[in-house]
Amino acid sequence: MFQARLNLYAGPGCLAWLAEAAGSSRIMVVTDAGCDRAGILDHVLAALLPVRPVGVCAFLAAEPTFTDVSRVCEAIAADRPGCLVAVGGGSAIDLAKAAAALATNGGSVRTYATSSYSGYRADALHSDPLPVVAIPTTAGTGSEVTRNAAISDPVTGDKLAMRSPRLVPRAQFLDPGLLRTCPASVAAQAGLDAAAHALEGMLSTLASPASDELAVDAVRRLVTALPGFCRAPADPDLAMQMQIGSLLAGLVLNDCATVAGHALARAIGAAAKLAHGLSVALVIAEVVRFNAADSDRRLGNTAAALGLDRTRPADSIATAIEDLRDSLGIPARLRDLGVTRSGLAPIAAAAAQFTALNPRPAGPEELLAVLENVF
Ligand SMILES: [Fe+2]
Repeated sequence: MFQARLNLYAGPGCLAWLAEAAGSSRIMVVTDAGCDRAGILDHVLAALLPVRPVGVCAFLAAEPTFTDVSRVCEAIAADRPGCLVAVGGGSAIDLAKAAAALATNGGSVRTYATSSYSGYRADALHSDPLPVVAIPTTAGTGSEVTRNAAISDPVTGDKLAMRSPRLVPRAQFLDPGLLRTCPASVAAQAGLDAAAHALEGMLSTLASPASDELAVDAVRRLVTALPGFCRAPADPDLAMQMQIGSLLAGLVLNDCATVAGHALARAIGAAAKLAHGLSVALVIAEVVRFNAADSDRRLGNTAAALGLDRTRPADSIATAIEDLRDSLGIPARLRDLGVTRSGLAPIAAAAAQFTALNPRPAGPEELLAVLENVF
């Protein structure tokens, strides 16, 4: 079964409906320092007039930590907002989702964190969070529609995921103009991460006819728009394609979760301190190839949508993703990013704990072979 909940505002000028969608005169904005510098925050604040936010929380780090969540929770306790408006990449939106949940449920991120996919019915929260309106400024995570929030432990570096259907934001605003300052390297990695959400969702043993339809459309939009978008992020049509592709991939991710690609990416990211999108970009093509025998039928429609040979779709899609990655200047080899050959086995062992939904059994040995191919 597939289930999704959307309250989507998409297109140039959609922020005109922001104040109405927020539904509260006590709004707190959660954002990152980059949005402030790029003038995006001012743009959003102007859209909120005459509502004057009761507070603005801007965090500095690349990915949110327990400390950031505590800071936002303290601001919520002091200013008592009725709605959080999250402006930024997946990190800012995840931060707002986590703080909104803790504000009404109590406890800490660890209280509700799970390390494995537990299905869309699983719900660790007992109360609805404060409403969150999500305004993504990158096209990648799909956090504006997902049921999870990823938060890191600043001491151990562990990344934990809070998961609940209640974490889905109340509304999503996709304004293509907000992507105009997105740096090419961020756009490239985030775009491939989004494509991986859709591809892995297709491979997942939880895939359904509805999720497959969305996944095919997501991959088609993302793969065809990404090269042009990286060159011209201010092009509203390309930005909109990326935003819609990323959102659709997020809906797929919600129901199908991810398979060996994200399992490996998480372990690589933790071991080599690499950004999530880069870790995913390193392995996704090889993971599609690894699953070829079990997924050619499912991937046929995607190959056709991309104008590729559908007699061996996994191979042709994997090659297309590698060509795309290379054309975007994303590194292709683990050895160039500080990973040693002796470091591969521990990464494979860590990743093997999270491959339950992979169509082909993927234990430490199989994953080590995948890693060797991208070493
Ligand atoms: Fe991802």
